[in-house]
This record gives sequence, structure tokens and C-alpha cells, in this order.
Amino acid sequence: MNDMTPTSAERALKLEGMGCKRKRVEDIRFTQGKGNYVDDLKLPGMLYGDFNRSPHGHARIKKIDTTKAAAVPGVVAVITAETLKTVNLAWMPTLAGDTQMVLADGKVLFQNQEVAFVIAEDRYTAADAADLVEVEYEALPVNVDPLKAMAPNAPMIREDLKDKTDGAHGKRKHYNHIFSWQAGDKAAADAAFQKAEVTIREMIVYPRVHPCPLETCQCVASFDKIKGELTLWGTFQAPHVIRTVGSLISKIPEHKIHVIAPDIGGGFGNKVGAYPGYICSIVASIVTGRPVKWVEDRIENLSTTAFARDFYMDVEIAATKDGKVTGLRCYTIADHGAFDACANATKWPAGLFSIISGSYDFPAAHCLVDGVYTNKAPGGVAYRCSFRVTEAAYAIERAMDIMAQKLGMDPAEFRMKNLIRREQFPYTSAFGWQYDSGDYQTAMNKAMESVDYKKLRDEQKTKREAFKRGETRELMGIGVAFFTEIVGAGPSRACDILGIAMFDSAEIRIHPTGSGICRLGTKSQGQGHETTYAQIIATELGLPADNIMVEEGNTDTAPYGLGTYGSRSTPVSGAATAMACRKIKAKAQMIAAYMLEVHDDDLEWDVDRFRVRGNPERFKTMTELAWAAYHEVPPGMEPGLEAINYYDPPNFTFPFGAYICVVNVDVDTGQTKVRRFYALDDCGTRINPMIIEGQIHGGLTEAFAIAMGQEIHYDDDGNVTTASFMDYFLPTAVETPHWETDWTTTPSPHHPIGAKGVGESPNVGGVPCFSNAVNDAFGFLGSTHIQMPHDNWRTWTAAEKLGLHAE
Ligand code: CDP
Repeated sequence: MNDMTPTSAERALKLEGMGCKRKRVEDIRFTQGKGNYVDDLKLPGMLYGDFNRSPHGHARIKKIDTTKAAAVPGVVAVITAETLKTVNLAWMPTLAGDTQMVLADGKVLFQNQEVAFVIAEDRYTAADAADLVEVEYEALPVNVDPLKAMAPNAPMIREDLKDKTDGAHGKRKHYNHIFSWQAGDKAAADAAFQKAEVTIREMIVYPRVHPCPLETCQCVASFDKIKGELTLWGTFQAPHVIRTVGSLISKIPEHKIHVIAPDIGGGFGNKVGAYPGYICSIVASIVTGRPVKWVEDRIENLSTTAFARDFYMDVEIAATKDGKVTGLRCYTIADHGAFDACANATKWPAGLFSIISGSYDFPAAHCLVDGVYTNKAPGGVAYRCSFRVTEAAYAIERAMDIMAQKLGMDPAEFRMKNLIRREQFPYTSAFGWQYDSGDYQTAMNKAMESVDYKKLRDEQKTKREAFKRGETRELMGIGVAFFTEIVGAGPSRACDILGIAMFDSAEIRIHPTGSGICRLGTKSQGQGHETTYAQIIATELGLPADNIMVEEGNTDTAPYGLGTYGSRSTPVSGAATAMACRKIKAKAQMIAAYMLEVHDDDLEWDVDRFRVRGNPERFKTMTELAWAAYHEVPPGMEPGLEAINYYDPPNFTFPFGAYICVVNVDVDTGQTKVRRFYALDDCGTRINPMIIEGQIHGGLTEAFAIAMGQEIHYDDDGNVTTASFMDYFLPTAVETPHWETDWTTTPSPHHPIGAKGVGESPNVGGVPCFSNAVNDAFGFLGSTHIQMPHDNWRTWTAAEKLGLHAE
């Protein structure tokens, strides 16, 4: 080796593997307007579909007349439920074991429900004609309040289920009841409350919100009558699931369905499920023999495709006087809208909500969730969260603050006292989850030191005194949140969708020249998968990340996988990628041993090569071995250098974080200024720190949006009053605060590269942190809980209730 020979460290740097702030390769096309989205697709003879939708929240349909719509020049067909019945597609199964109307059948159950689908030569004609579909309605009583859904005289939402005493998850208690689901030990929790020295109880509402991907839901269906094959391009977070569901519904054999998800402009859970737009486009293509495009507009997106949250959580904590938690109980009513189309693993109708004991060592806990039908749009997706984890994190983090307030303890100190200790990992929670790894105290200490927590509290004390003296009309709030997530669905023993275990997959082909392609069952919607999966391969195989192409989203070429949502890509497919690499590496080692005429065991790995132990001058680089795999394999060995892995994770991963937020609230206007937001995340091994930072920034911005303004609101007549960005808060760069990010690294012991998911964390931790900050501002005046969203009006109202506006 001479002085010019690169060292191992220098060679490792050149690979741009794990830990490198590699620039996003996909941005080359995105920043130049060269992305390929569904709406970019133009096929010869393509038609366009648009919906006529219900103006009512609940109404019987007496008559639908499509004559005028069908007569509009350029209209090719108009589809109603009656048309769909002829092909047995008027209703479709949901992911949650329910059935859902594709087009309104007999009555409408929520405002903007799909009633008729008009197919025309262009989008504008389709939209104009959709307005000409004449529907005679008879209005019915509406219920949009989940707390009234099981009242004896509540309007019956689902007449089709009237006589069904059993649902997908057991007995139904009422005609508007969907399921009851519970976890933990009720007797133990009740006993803890009987003995408790101090208890708190609060109804904590996480309002209905909606993910806001820049690109709405859309598809193009093209049925080839000659071949009997359907090609479906769409904004699908889970293309293989769409293919399987599509085959089950349409009876088209699965191998004759080609599902392609091209570039996707954000998903956040909104693009997991199957929507009437997809089914109608498929039927329309079969009927007309031409490709059909359906593109949702913003109002349709906000008011009809999958919502998130809508959880009403009655939370109780029991504790000792000196601040040790002893018990947790939570009874939740979950509003699922008119159909149960919640995207959850089959066994978990309330998702992973039983992570509600959070980061704290609760000896006893119990939760019970009742799902109910109301006159609202269906859904219940994990908007930047892992299956109801953000609801759980919000409930526990607010409740911990409320208990700290009652005990007269500082909320950070109260958390510190109850955090699961490092030596308790792997830790089994009172709900039975086994948390894989954590070092919570270190994270919390680092967060508190970084923001100089003590100084902030001193400043707050001074300001409160000034407020009491009438010298200022501003209150200072400090929000603390410590969250534990559960991501990486999931182990097949716990998680499946429609009976398909939630494994995921990676197939890697290394070409003779040492470049390669990796195909996966996941699908990026902006998370940078093309960049980061290549980094895992670079480190595992010693090939430059730039030499690896990553491809997702085509069911014809990708191995079967369950898709991207709930931060499952890294925990599941990231692991599959590493495991496939290891198969390739094992084969390469045998080829190297053959070429170097040594035993396999005499070789050691050094960044990008196998070298002979004790004789490092004798080596074969991975690039050389790739070439050899195609012309010089040992006798009896198959040529080629490819591998596939289907990874069934042994457990979830449990990322965590400590967030601190400082706000100033003007009690006269209700305006809240975010002074500081510090986010420390621990996602185990970090693949690309720059992408992680981007994920945190995006998730925090969404958390800010939810906590400070987003709500899908219905009036008592079932009208959605927040169906456009005029009324539904979407922060721009102007409103978005500055984010300070930080990290600790506690690898997952069961993941091949120690990585945990990260994409959902900032939303899960961010929402309670903002809410705790606003609540903390008012806490010293006797307020215990102000409901989200903390927009100016609600904050002003909270101040009014506390008598702060009195003359
Ligand atoms: O499933 P999804 O891609 O939404 O979430 P994720 O697994 O949390 O990954 C989001 C992005 O962050 C991906 O590009 C990951 O490769 C990256 N990431 C990382 O660099 N290091 C981690 N420990 C976790 C995620």
C-alpha cells in the first residue's frame, strides 16, 4: 500500500452509504418539473370521469335521472349504483371488514358522497354534466356527534346492517355500533384507581383532521378487452394491496391486473385505501373500452377520501402524592363515519392505540375503544402516524401534564420520575408491547439542557408575575412532550391486511459491472426511498450508492409487499434490503474464496472488498466479484448475483423523542406565537441524517397545522364547513415556525441495521407538545385542558372563560 492508496475510511466515504447526508437523487427530476405523476399520464382515446355528489348529510334517494347529463355533447356514459349492480360492484369491501357503497344505493350517508359517475371526452364536460344529474332526495335526521351515536333514538346510519348483531370484531351493542376493542388488565387498573392517592380524569378530544397531500387521489384505468387485462395507474401507497383487492372485487385474475404507482406527491395515509373513484374508473373503462382518468379536486379530497383521528378519549391517571404513576384507564369513542373503512391491521380495529401508556412505567392499564357510525365520510387513516399512535400519544401526553398540574410538579420533572429506565429494556408495557430499546432519561436531559429549561421556567415565572400585575397581556407557555412510537407493522403474528401478513420485500440484482437495481414492495410518496435504500446497499455491499437504482410501485416487477405508511419502510423493507444484501454478500464471499484460492473463513470484509486475513494485499473488490459472478463462479455454483428477501419483522420498532416548545399567547387576540420548537428524535441507526431532518421538518409542520388550526368540522345538518383551504388550515412558510432538531441514537436490537422508523415521529410528538405549550400558558390560572385546535378563536375563548377579558 502506498501513500496514495485510499484508506478504508476514505473508501467508505466514497460509497455514500449509511450515515451520509447524501443528496436526494429523486430531486433531480422533481426540481426540474420532470416528475411523472398520474395526471401527467395521457393515453390515446382517454376519457375523464367526475362525480355527482350528495348535498345532504343523510337522505333517502327517491329518484336519479341521468337523462340531461347523458345528453350533454361529449358525455360517453353515466354510471349509477344501478349500473354497478349489473356487475355486482355497487358495494365494495373495506380494509376493516365492512362494506361500502361505491355509488349511493338507496340513500346517502354523508355530504359529498358519490352518487353518479359521469364519463366524458374531457374533464370539464364531465364536471358540467355531473351537475346535471338530477337526484330527488328526502332528507333524513343527521347525526355527526359520535357521543350521541349510540343513543336509543339516534338516526340509524346503516340500514343494511339493521339486523346484524355481529360485526367484523364481535358483538354490536347498537345499530350504529361497529366494534368494541380492549387491551390491558381492567381488574388491575381498577384496583390501582381504588388505591390511588391522586387521580385525574379528562375528556381529551382529537378532532377529525385530514391529510393534505399536494397531489390529491387519482387514477387511470385501462382495460384491454382482447387480453382481458386491466392496467391501473394511481396514487397508491400500497400498490400490491390495491391489486389484490382489485382482483377480489372485480374477479379479474390477479396476474391480469397491472398496478402502477408512478411518482406520488405526498400520501400521509390518504392514499392507502380503495376509493369509489378507482372502482368507477375501472368499470367505466370496461364499459367504454377506453382508458378513464379520475382526478379528485381539493374539496373532494378534504371531504370524502380518508380522514384521520376523530377520537374522543376519556383518560384517567392514578398516581401517588409524590408523583409516581400507578394506573391508567381510557375509554374512547372512535368516530368512523358512515362506513368502517379504517386502514388498520385486521386484528387491531383501533390500531396500535394501546401504546397509550407511552414512555412511562405504568404498572396497570386498561383501554376500551368503541367504534361508531355517524353521517361523516369514512376513513380513519394514519395521517403521518402509525395506526392511531398519535391519538394515544396526544392523550397520554396531555394527561401527564394535567396530572403534573394537579400534583403541583413541573411537567418535565414528573415525566422524568416516571420514564421507563434504560435498564428496563426490553420493556414489556402493561398492554403487553415489548419496547425494543430506549434511553429516555438521556434524551430528556439532553432536551432540557439544550433549551436551558430552567432558565425558560424562570422567565415564565417573571412573566406570569408581570401578567398578574397587569403589565403585559401576553402569557408564556412551555410545552414538554416525551413520546414513544410503535412503528414497522409488522410481525405476522400480530399484523395482517385481509389475511396477508404484513411482511415486506426487497429484490436486488447486481449487474456484471457492479451496478444494480433494487425493487421493493414499498412506495415512496416523497420520503426519498430512491436515495436511502441505495445507501443501505452501499454500506452492506460496498458498492457506491450512485450505482444502485431503486424502483418501487410496479406490481409486475416489484416483489409482493404491503406498502408504505406508518413508518414501516425502514423497519420492514429496510431490513429486507439488508437481508437480501447479506445473501448476495455470502455468495460473493464464496466467489472471492474460489478466485483467491483460500477457504471462505480465511476472508474478512473490508468496506468494499473481501481480503485474505493477515494478507490484506490479496483481495477482491465487490465490483470485481460482480463481474466474476457472471463468468467465473466456482464449479457447481449458479451464475449471477441476485437475491430476494421477504422480511417478517420479529417485533415492531419503538422510536422515541423529547420535544420542547415555547409559545407566547396574546390573551386579547388569542394569537399564539411559537418562539421555539426543539425536537430530539431517536430513530436508532440513522441512514441519511439530511433526509431524517427533512422528515422531521415536514412532520413538525403537519403537527403545527393539526395542533394550531386543522379540523374537519361538520355543522348539525351534516354540512362540512371546512372543505377547502379557505377554511382548513394549511400552513405556508410564513406561518411555519423555525425547527431546532437534535438526536440520540439507540439502535433497535432486532433490526438488521438497528434502524427504527422516523417519518411519523414528529407528528406524534409534535401535536401534544404544541398543545401542552398552549395549555401550559393558561395552567397557572386554573385551566386544566383546552381542546385542540388552538386557533385564535378557541384560544381567545379560553381566555374569555377564565375571565381575562373582563373590564
Ligand atoms: O415508511 P416511510 O418511508 O414513510 O417512513 P420511514 O421508514 O420512517 O422512512 C422515512 C425516510 O427516512 C426514508 O427515506 C428512510 O430511509 C429515512 N430514514 C433514515 O434515514 N434513517 C432511519 N433510521 C429511519 C428512516
